[in-house]
Amino acid sequence: MSSVLTLPSTFSRLNLVPKSLITIPLAFKPLNLLKSHKQQQARSLNSPRLSSLNSFTTHFSTSRSSVSPKPFHDDLVVLGIETSCDDTAAAIVRGNGEILSQVVSSQADLLARYGGVAPKMAEEAHSQVIDQVVQEALDKSGLTGRDLSAVAVTIGPGLSLCLRVGVQKARRVAGSFNLPIISVHHMEAHALVARLIEKELQFPFMALLISGGHNLLVLAHDLGQYTQLGTTIDDAIGEAFDKTAKWLGLDMRKSGGPAVEQIAQEGDAESVRFSIPMKQHKDCNFSFAGLKTQVRLAIASKNIEAKVPISCASSQDRSSRADIAASFQRVAVLHLEERCERAIEWALKIEPSIKHLVVSGGVASNQYVRARLDRVVKKYSLQLVCPPPKLCTDNGVMIAWTGIENFRVGRYDPPPPANDPEDFMYDLRPRWPLGEEYAEGRSEARSLRRARVHPSLTSLVQASLQQQ
Ligand code: KG4
Ligand code: ZN
Repeated sequence: MSSVLTLPSTFSRLNLVPKSLITIPLAFKPLNLLKSHKQQQARSLNSPRLSSLNSFTTHFSTSRSSVSPKPFHDDLVVLGIETSCDDTAAAIVRGNGEILSQVVSSQADLLARYGGVAPKMAEEAHSQVIDQVVQEALDKSGLTGRDLSAVAVTIGPGLSLCLRVGVQKARRVAGSFNLPIISVHHMEAHALVARLIEKELQFPFMALLISGGHNLLVLAHDLGQYTQLGTTIDDAIGEAFDKTAKWLGLDMRKSGGPAVEQIAQEGDAESVRFSIPMKQHKDCNFSFAGLKTQVRLAIASKNIEAKVPISCASSQDRSSRADIAASFQRVAVLHLEERCERAIEWALKIEPSIKHLVVSGGVASNQYVRARLDRVVKKYSLQLVCPPPKLCTDNGVMIAWTGIENFRVGRYDPPPPANDPEDFMYDLRPRWPLGEEYAEGRSEARSLRRARVHPSLTSLVQASLQQQ
């Protein structure tokens, strides 16, 4: 089973080195501990002999052997592995953002069969394909493990059984090639992949992260430092899309969202009067459970049978389904729009220099979502940044890229041993908030499901920075 680390060991994973030191050129010198590595860096700053060596990034060594120095920025090559939910993904990305390869093995067929992710089955599916997915990513890039600078892997949030498959694989690869390992927050990766696409995107910026399991509005102050402006008090929007698709008897092979988006184009979005969630709550939180119920009731009232696939429906039945899909999509997105407007107002008060709203996560591949949110940001003279659909849904590129961003500032762990002992306790964080809640934005509408297991990424980063 997965392990949950206590706070002190959690801290020890964040090997933070002040940014100012990281970017300063260093000569490579094998050291036994990161701590002494940091001291070495500090000592190196005034050394004229070392300052002439300007092409290397920070290095460290383990008690086993030293890691070869890797050139900075462009020559970093990171393998990213993602298994937090139902997609097994791997990619290889260069420090300059060049995507050398990306491979995704989707469990959409399982999703279609069971209408949701069954953790044990998802774990088995990941285990079956993980070796192949990683190998394919290496083959497509034309590289071998020896060419890599580091391995990045999602450690949370997500299903612990699934996360474990990716972490195990990442440690095996890193162990075999003596590579540092970077632990990645899945939601940070959804946000940061936008910086790979849009080179102008600087901190601070806002991000709306909308996927099957998460619905987050955050203010990104810096790498690893986020203020959570809003989250869902029950279901995420992607879950609402998936259930709507299932109840409407749509083809779920590419997951529910794209199926709803497609049939919605045939429907009248004003025909079913769904109410917008949480109108009375003047905050930035989300709720989709009530809207799901409204959809279910509308489907029942039209006698739509999910068992009858849309491809076999009569034309009248098909048009009722399309009307419900379009009306659901309109109201679900209105809810996003309303929350985004308020969040932008809050965020501009906290960080007036914000220029961008990033919209990422699987649901951000929806063209209607993009178009509506584009209108919202324009009102505030902001720019919308949406990664291309392939980088919005779960993928290895976002993990590799987030690994690169973290590696550059010294946030990585030393290479693991070639083989972990059988009773090794993996650091998996199934419930791991990205940021601390914005105090003024606390909602009275709370769900019991919000129990926290891990301290947020932001609190860990801040605590580590204070220790330096
Ligand atoms: O980010 P993602 O790949 O996985 C999670 O971390 O959850 O998001 C998957 C979710 C699914 O709920 C899927 O139905 C939804 O994203 N999705 C969409 C679209 N494409 C994927 N929802 C609406 N419209 C789409 N075009
Ligand atoms: Zn995701």
